[in-house]
Amino acid sequence: MTKQAATHIVWHNATIGKQDRQRLNGHRSCVLWFTGLSGAGKSTLANAVEKRLYEMGLKSYTLDGDNVRHGLNKDLGFSADDRKENIRRIAEVSKLFVDAGIIAITAFISPFREDRQVARDLLETGEFVEVYVKCSLDECENRDPKGLYAKARKGEIPDFTGISSPYEEPVAPELVVETDLLTIEQSVDRVILYLQSRSILS
Ligand code: ADX
Repeated sequence: MTKQAATHIVWHNATIGKQDRQRLNGHRSCVLWFTGLSGAGKSTLANAVEKRLYEMGLKSYTLDGDNVRHGLNKDLGFSADDRKENIRRIAEVSKLFVDAGIIAITAFISPFREDRQVARDLLETGEFVEVYVKCSLDECENRDPKGLYAKARKGEIPDFTGISSPYEEPVAPELVVETDLLTIEQSVDRVILYLQSRSILS
């Protein structure tokens, strides 16, 4: 639990609430929480899902690990504590997006179950959609789009997920998308169908 540092602060209830904003947007909001190894296809899938939602006239926003680490989380590295704080902040930001009536899409390795649970617990039932972007380590290493696995194998990147730092697979994700078996379009279809099946989209 992160400690509450500020004192004498009072919660203000907004006049316009989440449900009002969802009604205005014409759809419910949630977080699509993509988790998986580096190179599994989280960012690719997040972007493709966002494009599809955009074409359907729905409001979404993607938070991507590499990008957020250039700004909001530029003070964080890859120790277990820093990854925990990375995920905690992203979870809080995602919650704000959900409150704003927007479908938040997050693409972070988020390797630790406990940290993903923290994110889930912040949201209401049904609002946290954990999507395991599943791809074997071998395939991720073959793809190595950023050349990072090669560097990690040479010992040039410490605590690299899958090589020298663990990835804890989701136990009961809402959705599993196997990117080494499906095309991007098929993967996007799975996500959209899930959202429709849960009446997040009509
Ligand atoms: S997380 O573990 O804290 O969720 P996050 O998704 O934000 O990670 O960032 C992962 C990205 O940072 C990877 O896609 C890769 O480009 C880069 N990266 C740099 N160092 C590491 C590392 N030690 N482990 C994993 N990814 C790393």
